[in-house]
Amino acid sequence: LRLDVAFTPGEISPARLASRTVVVIDVLRATSTILEALVNGAREIVPVESVGAAVRNREELGRDEVLLCGERRSRSIPGFDLGNSPLEFTPRRVTGMTLLMTTTNGTRALLAGSVAEQCIVASFLNAGAAAGSLLATGSDAVLLCAGAGGRFALEDAVCAGLIAQDVLARTSGARIDDAAKSAMLLARRFADRLPRLLGRTAAGRRLTRAGFAEDITFCAALNRYTEVPRLHERRVTIP
Ligand code: MLT
Repeated sequence: LRLDVAFTPGEISPARLASRTVVVIDVLRATSTILEALVNGAREIVPVESVGAAVRNREELGRDEVLLCGERRSRSIPGFDLGNSPLEFTPRRVTGMTLLMTTTNGTRALLAGSVAEQCIVASFLNAGAAAGSLLATGSDAVLLCAGAGGRFALEDAVCAGLIAQDVLARTSGARIDDAAKSAMLLARRFADRLPRLLGRTAAGRRLTRAGFAEDITFCAALNRYTEVPRLHERRVTIP
């Protein structure tokens, strides 16, 4: 097994992903929110690139049982039904619904990952289960961090490091790249203080300023869930 980490989507080419399993990570908040929505009964999540594409897709799909959700600059998008706070995606709001989602970094990373043979959606909330699913695919893998605006994001790197550690603990003979080694060092440093770490990252500070401090605590809960969403044919579901 070969296990690489990409700290930003710009580091990987579609050709490098084609025969691999990719694990997409956007701890604050897209991949945490996607998992919460699916656990709470959403039928599927369709990541879309832009606000315009989300609105057009809703016209095509019809309004019944479709919600628009996502953020720009961490805040809800005018005219959308939900923002990107996992706490908004309650069973009452999302059960049975198709969610068209567009976020600044997370959905872009998902769209980049969609060319892979298998695409897994991970966050701290399901890191252990995601490592298990990755191993079960039996393929070489890339842990793809969404980052922020094409740059490194510490919380995504720590999550990638935790998943890499878990994979290495459960298999022998895995080969990892330097980025994975660095991510594992970060995970070792920060694993026992995730809520504090998340509050101090650039994304965490931005979310606190925007009034979403509770989301940080929520997204820092390691292995709260065993469900592992997959992206297949443009839709994210829990298989
Ligand atoms: C993103 O995709 O960039 C994020 O999830 C941002 C956020 O939730 O504020």
